[in-house]
Amino acid sequence: MKTHTLLMPLDAHLHLRDGVMLENIAPLSAYSFSGAIVMPNLVPPVSSLVDIRAYKKRIMATVPNDYFEPYMTLFYENYDKNFLESVADEIIAIKLYPAGITTNSEGGVSSFDIAEMRPTLEAMSELQIPLCVHGETDGFVMDREAEFMSIYELLASNFPNLKIIMEHITTKEAVDMLDRFDNLYASITVHHLLLTLDDVVGGMMMPHNFCKPIAKRPEDLDALLSIALEAHPKVMFGSDSAPHPQEKKESCGCAAGVFTAPIALQLLCEIFEQYDKLDNLQAFVSDNAQSIYGLCPEFKEVILEKRAFSIPQKYSNVVPMYAGETINWAIQSVE
Ligand code: NCD
Ligand code: ZN
Repeated sequence: MKTHTLLMPLDAHLHLRDGVMLENIAPLSAYSFSGAIVMPNLVPPVSSLVDIRAYKKRIMATVPNDYFEPYMTLFYENYDKNFLESVADEIIAIKLYPAGITTNSEGGVSSFDIAEMRPTLEAMSELQIPLCVHGETDGFVMDREAEFMSIYELLASNFPNLKIIMEHITTKEAVDMLDRFDNLYASITVHHLLLTLDDVVGGMMMPHNFCKPIAKRPEDLDALLSIALEAHPKVMFGSDSAPHPQEKKESCGCAAGVFTAPIALQLLCEIFEQYDKLDNLQAFVSDNAQSIYGLCPEFKEVILEKRAFSIPQKYSNVVPMYAGETINWAIQSVE
């Protein structure tokens, strides 16, 4: 049987939620990943040292028997330097959401006034705290990411020593930005390597494929594949797995978010094998994130095997992407 081994897989962008949802879904990531960069968009968002420590403790309590490191993050506000110094050792990055652009982003940034942001972003540069950005404007939904490129330019050129991660990129425009600024990096989800807008609304409407940023055009998908399959060193896997209860997805006013955490490695094997690039998957799912963020995850070996795997209809009350469909790779063992 054909197998493929991945060492210390990392998820550079994961929503773990809180409460019962956290208890139900965190073990799924902890099973096959060594660690994940955990999103702070709780209600209210994670924005103090007390919040960070308490949330990390709640996460760890859900995965007592697995080795799994939750790398903590803070919700972006214009923080002062003293505060940033006090949290620097306990976070891996700060996450910026434009206000109102996606789930639980109400408290996000509403204007990109560089003068207002300068003290915070300079302090982050000095303390080497990366800035991770959900890069979408409030424009027309298909153009939001492309329109945001001018803000990335502004940030990248004004703060050359700040590491800026363009999160879950979905467009050719974002791919083209990567080589223009040394301090720009990107994460890519597995669903954006598989879906276009057609898979969301081209036929029957598919709520479980609906997320922000929304899946784009075939040429965008090709651009994402071109850098992911080569494991471009400035690009890393971040699932943006964003679980919502089934009733919040299959309803009028469907919440944005695609749930992929328990099937992400299997799908990535399938994609990379299809293009004969399996050898590059290790860099995409771990090595690149290790160098970009300076992480040293503890050893974990995940062996995947090529066999039919039928994706469950649900994990607790969350419907995953491709529920009920059969894919070609499964997890054989984790050590
Ligand atoms: C995320 C969520 O549900 O928290 N939703 C999404 O569509 N990706 C929020 C986010 O990261 O944008
Ligand atoms: Zn996200």
